[in-house]
Amino acid sequence: MIVLGIESSCDDTAAAIIRDNQILSSVVANQHHIHQRFGGIVPELASRDHLVKITTVVEQALENAQITLAEVELIAATQGPGLIGSLLVGFCFAKSLAYRLAQPVVGVDHLSGHILSPFLERTVPAFPYIALIVSGGTTALFFVQDFSTYRLIGRTRDDAAGEAFDKIARMLNLGYPGGPIIAERARHAAALDTTFPRAWLEEGSLDFSFSGLKTAVSHYIAKARSAGKADPVNSVCRAFQEAVVEVLVKKTLAAAQKYQTDQIVVGGGVAANEALREALSAASQSLGISSYLPAQANCTDNAAMIAFAGLKNFQAGRSSTLSEDVFPRSTLGN
Ligand code: KG4
Repeated sequence: MIVLGIESSCDDTAAAIIRDNQILSSVVANQHHIHQRFGGIVPELASRDHLVKITTVVEQALENAQITLAEVELIAATQGPGLIGSLLVGFCFAKSLAYRLAQPVVGVDHLSGHILSPFLERTVPAFPYIALIVSGGTTALFFVQDFSTYRLIGRTRDDAAGEAFDKIARMLNLGYPGGPIIAERARHAAALDTTFPRAWLEEGSLDFSFSGLKTAVSHYIAKARSAGKADPVNSVCRAFQEAVVEVLVKKTLAAAQKYQTDQIVVGGGVAANEALREALSAASQSLGISSYLPAQANCTDNAAMIAFAGLKNFQAGRSSTLSEDVFPRSTLGN
């Protein structure tokens, strides 16, 4: 089945064409140049830019896949969670196109796109598996039993991991998005003279918290500056990244053991982080657990994963009506 996927939940306008589980094209237009000077996403500017770009991005995806609109059999679009204005652009565009083509449209929960993204790779996980979803807006663990049955087993109580990367980068005046910049700074940095705290929370908890870590970094920087020291920026990036990675890896492995599965999937923008990928692969290997990490381009927001999740929804008998609305928060797995 040929599926057109559309993603516009945050600051990426994306469209993709898939045939079953094969990606024929995937186009992503990011808005980093617009939000960079604010150190974070400005929702109104994001939705306006989606409006400007969406037609071109969809046309480009069709052209790259050498598919005509008439050949599209299903349209899948992110329905939530995300920024309302941004979601509305993509979902309304998808509904209008479906009406015009007289083809079905299916709304997709963005998180299910990340959860199922490894199915677009060469080696795929087996059910049940643990999915760690780490992005700018989400940090959560799911127990995934099949394509549409998920249980939310852990989530952040404050900041998402990607949000923490972005806020620390802003604190250090490094630019936006913070994740890739901090990862680069940390790569060859010397060790810091201290370690930052890890929030393990209550015994056995699979929840996360990154606000204490953020405060600890901010205090460290303030102290270093008032002592007249040169900012040890790269070492702070390294110590911060180590703290985030250790918690993500240990809680994900603990979840696999608790739910008795040897399959782990990681998705979301932070899953592009090399230090996290290496630490998780090494730690899972030592426990005989298989970890599945999508290619880096498929970790950050893209429409191929939305097309695939939409296809699975549709095959399970679900489609959207033209009067359906978008939703800002996910209820997936609750
Ligand atoms: O999934 P995603 O593309 O979309 C949103 O949630 O908006 O994730 C974006 C997030 C940003 O917070 C960004 O800083 C983070 O993922 N990110 C990374 C890396 N690449 C992107 N964080 C750590 N290391 C990276 N290499």
